Amino acid sequence: MVREPKISAGSLDLNKFLFGGYETDIITTFYGPGGSGKSNFCVLVAASQARKGNKVIFVDTEGGFSSDRFRQVHPGTKEEIEASLQNIFLLKPTSFAEQEKAFQELLIHVKKRDISLIIIDSMAMLYRLELGDAITAKDNEKISEVNRKLAKQLRSLNEIARKQNISVIVTNQVYSTFTQNSEDKNFERQVSMVGGDLLKYWSKCLIELQNYHGKRKLILKKHRSLPVKEFAFEIIGAGIRKRGLF
Ligand SMILES: Nc1ncnc2c1ncn2[C@@H]1O[C@H](COP(=O)(O)OP(=O)(O)OP(=O)(O)O)[C@@H](O)[C@H]1O
Ligand SMILES: [Mg+2]
Repeated sequence: MVREPKISAGSLDLNKFLFGGYETDIITTFYGPGGSGKSNFCVLVAASQARKGNKVIFVDTEGGFSSDRFRQVHPGTKEEIEASLQNIFLLKPTSFAEQEKAFQELLIHVKKRDISLIIIDSMAMLYRLELGDAITAKDNEKISEVNRKLAKQLRSLNEIARKQNISVIVTNQVYSTFTQNSEDKNFERQVSMVGGDLLKYWSKCLIELQNYHGKRKLILKKHRSLPVKEFAFEIIGAGIRKRGLF
């Protein structure tokens, strides 16, 4: 099967912003705080692919996948929507060990079922839980092992994307740190990703989501062929929509 170099993001506005949509041979990572829209972007691209009859693997580690939301963003009749839902293979690991197992099985799924898109929402949630236990126990060996395993999972996702020409969309949570500016002594807020350096390294496209007082913004932080730029948006019933400048 010959695949397009990009797949639709499931939103005309976002496709325009990304010059066609998500690239097919890389990992694209969305990161942002709770409620910033990460799962919305996942369900949009999933519905768009499923609607075309393409198969999607959706790894849901947080119970964030809502079939109701899927139905809202999917145009068409009830029958068409239910048929599209059949194209979504939902995997729900509840521990880092289960996530690892799910990832080992991905390649088999991809080959057997002709998958066009893999979504991991979110990548580092179960990692963080596993790491938290190791940190509490001050178990350095375990900490290294957990980090090694996350790196291995990302490496294999990257390999699947490149070799099979499949879009991989990953989401990730963030945490804030505050550092004091040495000149004006003001505190500056920095947003960092859980498992940050690893995810930054393995994602060729990085998208930050912000939501300050209901004003939502998407920032393209890293891309192979586009500059750093922003996109103000709102979440609506049918998906997402571009907003005017603030
Ligand atoms: N039908 C809808 N119309 C308008 N807004 C909606 C609709 N459905 C969901 N939303 C909004 O989407 C937002 C949640 O977005 P989403 O679940 O994508 O965030 P998230 O970044 O995945 O959060 P988390 O980190 O908690 O998983 C909420 O503010 C919610 O009000
Ligand atoms: Mg979510």
